[in-house]
Formats: sequence, structure tokens, C-alpha cells
Amino acid sequence: MTIVAMACKNNNEISAENYKDDNITSKIDSLLKLMTIEEKVGQMNQYNGFWDLTGPSPKGGTAAKKYEHLRKGWVGSMLNVRGVEQVRAVQKIAVEESRLGIPLIIGFDVIHGYKTLSPIPLAESASWDLEAIEQSSRIAAIEASSVGINWTFAPMIDIGRDARWGRVMEGAGEDPYLGSLIAKARIKGFQGDDLSSVNTIAATAKHFAGYGFSEAGREYNTVDIGTSTLHNVVLPPFKAAVDADVKTVMNSFNEINGVPVTGSPYLQRDILKGEWNFNGFVISDWASIREMISWGHAKNKSEAAKIAVTAGSDMDMEGYVYIEELAQLVKDDVIKEDLLDDAVRRILRVKFELGLFDDPYRYCDEVREKEMIGHPKHHEAVLDMAKKSIVLLKNENNLLPLKKEGQKIALIGALASDKNSPLGSWRLASDDNTAVSVLEGMQAYKGNSLVYKKGADVSVGKTAFVEEVRINTTDKSEFQSAITAAKSADVVVMVLGEHGFQSGEARSRTNLQLPGVQQELLEAVYKVNSNIVLVLNNGRPLAVSWADAHIPAIVEAWQLGTQTGNAVAQVLYGDYNPSGKLPMTFPRGVGQVPIYYNYKNTGRPKNVEGNVFWSHYIDSENTPLYPFGHGLSYTTFEYSNLKLNGSIFNIGNDITVSVDVKNSGDRDGKEVVQLYIRDLVGSVTRPVKELKGFDLVEIKAGDTKTITFTLDKTTLGFYNNQGEYIIEPGEFKVFVGGSSAQTLEADFELD
Ligand code: BGC
Repeated sequence: MTIVAMACKNNNEISAENYKDDNITSKIDSLLKLMTIEEKVGQMNQYNGFWDLTGPSPKGGTAAKKYEHLRKGWVGSMLNVRGVEQVRAVQKIAVEESRLGIPLIIGFDVIHGYKTLSPIPLAESASWDLEAIEQSSRIAAIEASSVGINWTFAPMIDIGRDARWGRVMEGAGEDPYLGSLIAKARIKGFQGDDLSSVNTIAATAKHFAGYGFSEAGREYNTVDIGTSTLHNVVLPPFKAAVDADVKTVMNSFNEINGVPVTGSPYLQRDILKGEWNFNGFVISDWASIREMISWGHAKNKSEAAKIAVTAGSDMDMEGYVYIEELAQLVKDDVIKEDLLDDAVRRILRVKFELGLFDDPYRYCDEVREKEMIGHPKHHEAVLDMAKKSIVLLKNENNLLPLKKEGQKIALIGALASDKNSPLGSWRLASDDNTAVSVLEGMQAYKGNSLVYKKGADVSVGKTAFVEEVRINTTDKSEFQSAITAAKSADVVVMVLGEHGFQSGEARSRTNLQLPGVQQELLEAVYKVNSNIVLVLNNGRPLAVSWADAHIPAIVEAWQLGTQTGNAVAQVLYGDYNPSGKLPMTFPRGVGQVPIYYNYKNTGRPKNVEGNVFWSHYIDSENTPLYPFGHGLSYTTFEYSNLKLNGSIFNIGNDITVSVDVKNSGDRDGKEVVQLYIRDLVGSVTRPVKELKGFDLVEIKAGDTKTITFTLDKTTLGFYNNQGEYIIEPGEFKVFVGGSSAQTLEADFELD
């Protein structure tokens, strides 16, 4: 018997027949009729659990009050409650002690795994491997659902062009096309084909919208973007998420055009719920409803509640605004009860779809919890994902892969032995120090002599509140022992970069160089031995221009999660041939940021007349250090024979583009073949390049494969400033290659 059935029988208002009806809408209708205004508001109220703070909590949110509200049925959801025992405890109160017994939906930030961690999302995106990414979210859902969680606040699908913003680590990088496909893959991984299955969880497309454009990369800052950027860059991944049936959308902390998104009817009602027909619910970000007061958009909590609910924010995350204000607003006739009904319907629908009304404890199974957490298959999967996420940025004279025998290797850098930092940011449920370090990974290869010296600490401890690291900017006392080890080594492997908690929420930086004394360490070691393989650990693009100019081999290893060390060692020793490609441009210096490949041409793109009046810097080239889509392999690929099935096409006809890709090296390898277009003249100016297709192909040494792409009406158009998708006739260019900067080129015309 379902809980609702019990509740309704007690109330005797509806015949039991209704509950045999499989139609969720009628079940919701029936339930809604039984609810008081306070109970409806309760469904729209989400409380943080009793630990794991992921934001600042207001005073008054005491545990006692939360328990009291649970009993009254005034809580629809909790976040940061985890573990079968804890989830069962709060669910039991909601289901067994509240009047209607409506189950809670339990949310958690499962960002890149639950306990067994996969690479940070930006790293996974570097794989361009949609199947692997879907699988990674699947594993995360299996682990998270086994501890009682049934809703993740992921994927984050904000486009990120500004490496100063710490949250680029959580996203898929700078490109809306790649970002849309990755969004779909992640949602599919979390939600599966059947949301009511016990190992699938509801996903959240966040943060809607524009949060990645925080001015100057400063967290929680204002956003000021034009209509064209909103429609062509920011919104497409969200549209893709809605098309992929994402169950919830989280709004963002920022304002757009002077209106905090939480209070924006244009974004939430007109676009999301109107035009896109989204029928899930919108969760606010942590206290973002209340924060409209600080923004100066609402004069008090009551006004904030009115603005947010009218604008379409359905659930208030740890903001205490809906629970304290909404009921009175309805009673005073300031807002219509219909608004509550709409929000509650959406929330209940997701709960029904999750099967929580059939069995509110369905995610609470101690046996499954024990079996699933840290399952060996999950370790295999995250290792596979980690290897696929690594990007080989530079490899002069084939310094890599390392030989397996007879080399003297000096491994240097505090991050090389760190078992915590590689877990990355947003890893609330994982245990500290559970990553395989690079040192451990390399020690598994026994044929070489390996000496380890840390050289210098990266961090010198953490501050108390939610993992903030203090960077070592002074202590060089261990430089000398690293230099000595490097002197007598054949190859030096240096693992340098950011600590895992230097990126993520509230970790904006104004400097994109190696933090602390690491650059000095690199240069000091280089003086005695230039045969260096630099392994970068970072949650954002870094400006490592000196390293690029001097260091022969550079490997981008991000923060790769639990299996970091094994993945890095297998790539360094050539047991895995890297194939990752950058999902975000690496700048030469922070002054170039925001920098991205799909920029606009400007009116003065070139130095044609030899004068100074063109769009450039006087102290840096315009080009990036490493472009979007860049990544090498231990083999080489040659592109030739770019062909189209015509040169003039009618709008509406498909265009076929083919290219031959030859593996011209002596190893089998994988290549991400990328296709870009340029619409030369538009009523709204178009970028110099736009990714519109890619294919991850495996090609045996010496073989050639012909890769074919189709361009159609879904890829050739763009959004005008009214937000309408249009295709305009005219000349186009098509580019195909192994990076956004190295491509073959052809032309065609749309008639
Ligand atoms: C973040 C969200 C997150 C929420 C709950 C907020 O501070 O912006 O992305 O899901 O906290 O932890």
C-alpha cells in the first residue's frame, strides 16, 4: 500500500480506486486536494542536513526546528543527509509522523562520484568520450543511490570561459556544442532509462543561467552578457538537458540584466517552463531566494518569496524564506494558491517518478550500501575514465613514454605523493587520503630506479571552514634535496599545480600560474636537468608559458579522482596512449582571460596596414598557449582529402563532409576528429569557428579511416536576438582537424 493511499484513506476523501490508477497526474491531483497551505509550502522547503555545510546557513536553522518541521510535514526535501541510517531516520519522521506522510526527496552534490571518485568533470570532458562519461555518472548514481540519495545536484552545465572562476572544474568547458552532448550523457548516466529503478537518481541541470560569466571570474559576482551570448552560448546545454528529460533545474546566484535569476520570470517561466516545456521542478541555489535582499531586488523576505515563487522558483534550498513567508502571502491574497499548486505538482511528480510513494525506503538498503560502496568494478571504471581524461600537451623528442627499464627517475613535487588533493573539489562523501598517488602509481613499475623528493609543500594546512587550503609561499627548505636528486637522474618527473581545494566553489583566483613556490622549484630543477616531464594537476586552465617554452614534455592530469596515480603512471609508461583534448583554452597569461576559440572576428582582426590600430595586445600574442581541442598522442595523425558532397546546398538539405585520417606513427591510437564551421555573414555576427561535430576514432598504426559528418538544420543555424533559431543563406567554411587551431578547410554555400 502506498503512503498516499494510507493518508487518503484516513482522510476518507477519495475512494481507494484512485490509488489503483497508474496515472501520476491524477494521484497528484488527489493528494493536492488533501494538503493545507502549510503542507504545500512544506513541499517547497528544503533543509540542509545536520552536517556537511555546502553554504552559509542563516541563524535559526536549528536542528530542533528542522525536526519539528519534518514532523509537521513542512519539509519536502533534505540535502546533505547521507548514509542509509541517516536517510532512513529523516524519512521515517516525514513518512510516519507527518499528517500526510509524503516522502522526502534526498539531494546531494554527487559531482564526480560518491565515494569512489572519478576525475573532476572538466577532466572527464577532456575525454570527449560520451559513453565513458555516461558510464561515469552511472557509477556515481549506483553508489549514491545505495546510501539513500535519490537526487544529485549535477551535472553543472555552465559554460566556462574564464579560468579565474573556480567552478570551471565542475563543468564541461567552454563550448556549447560539446557541453550539450556531455550534459545529455551525464543526465542519462544518472537517470538511466527508468527513474523508478533503485539505482537511478534524479539529475539537476545547474546553474540556470549565466553563472559561468561572473564578472572578472569572481565567485557570486554579477553577470552582464548580451542576448546573443545568452541564447547561443549559455542556454543550449540547458535546452539539451530539458530535451534529455532532466528532472530538476537549479537556478543560479547571479543576476542577468539586473534581475537575479531566482526572481527572473523570463528565464524560468517564459523560457524554461514555457518555450521548453520543462515539467520538472526548479530548485533555488543555496539561499538564492533570500539573497535577492542583498542584491537589492527585494526589500525583505516576504517580497523575496513573492518574487521567487511568481518567477517560477519551486523549492527554496536552506533559505527559510518560503517556509516563513509563503503561507501568509497566500492568506493575505498577495499571491494565488495556484502558484503553490504548480510548484507542488512538479515536486510531487518527481517523487512519484522516483517510486518514493511506492516505498519511501527503497533507497535505504544496508546490504546494498555495503556491497556497492567502493565496488571493485567502480574502481575499474574510474581508472578507465581517468586515463581517458589525460591530455598530452607537449612531447618533444618523444621524451614520453618513459622507458620501462634502465632509467633513473627522479619524481619531484608535493602533489606527487599527495593522496588527498587528486580527489579534487566537491567530494563531500569521499574519505580523505584515499586517492592512489602518482608516487604509488609509479612505484608499481619496478624496472627503473625511482627517487622521490617533494621539493616544496604546495599547501601548509587548511582553514577550518569547508576545506580551504593555505598555500606555501615561503618555504623552500627542501629545494636542495630535489635538485640533488634531479642532477643524477636520466629523467625528472615533476608533479606540480593546484591543490584539489584550490578550485571549486568560492575558489576564484586572480593568478593562473603555478601556486606558491612551485614555479621557482621548476626553474631551479631545470637548471640542473632539463629532461623534465611536467605533470600538471589543476582544476582549471593554467598559464604555464614558461614551462611550455622550456619543458620538453607536459601532461595535463587535472585531478583524476581515486585512481589518479595508476592512470598517470600507465600514461607516462606508455601502457595507455593518451587521446584527451582540451575542453577549455589555456591562456598565455591571465590578462587574456576570458579567452575561447569561438570568438568574434571584430572589425579589426588583422595587422593589415602595419599600424597599431588592430585588435591585439602590445605585450602578448592573441593566440592561446594551448587551444581548445588540443591534445597529442604517442602516435601521429595526418588529415587529408576533405570533401563535401557538393558546394551549393538548399537550406534543409543535409551536407556530408568526409575526411581521411591516417595514423602515421607506429602505435595504435585514438583521435578526436573535430569539425567546425564558420557562417561568414550573419544578421547577428557569428564566431570565427563553431564546433558542430566530432568523432572519437581508434586507428591502428599505419591505417587510414574515412570519417564522415553530416551538417543539417540543427547545426547550421543560430539564435537571433529574439531567441528564435534561424538558418541564413550565404557562404560557410568548414574545418576539420585534430584541434580548433589545426584544420583543413573547405567552403560551401547555402542557398
Ligand atoms: C552550490 C550548488 C550546490 C549547493 C548545495 C551551492 O552553494 O552553488 O551548486 O548544489 O550549494 O550544496
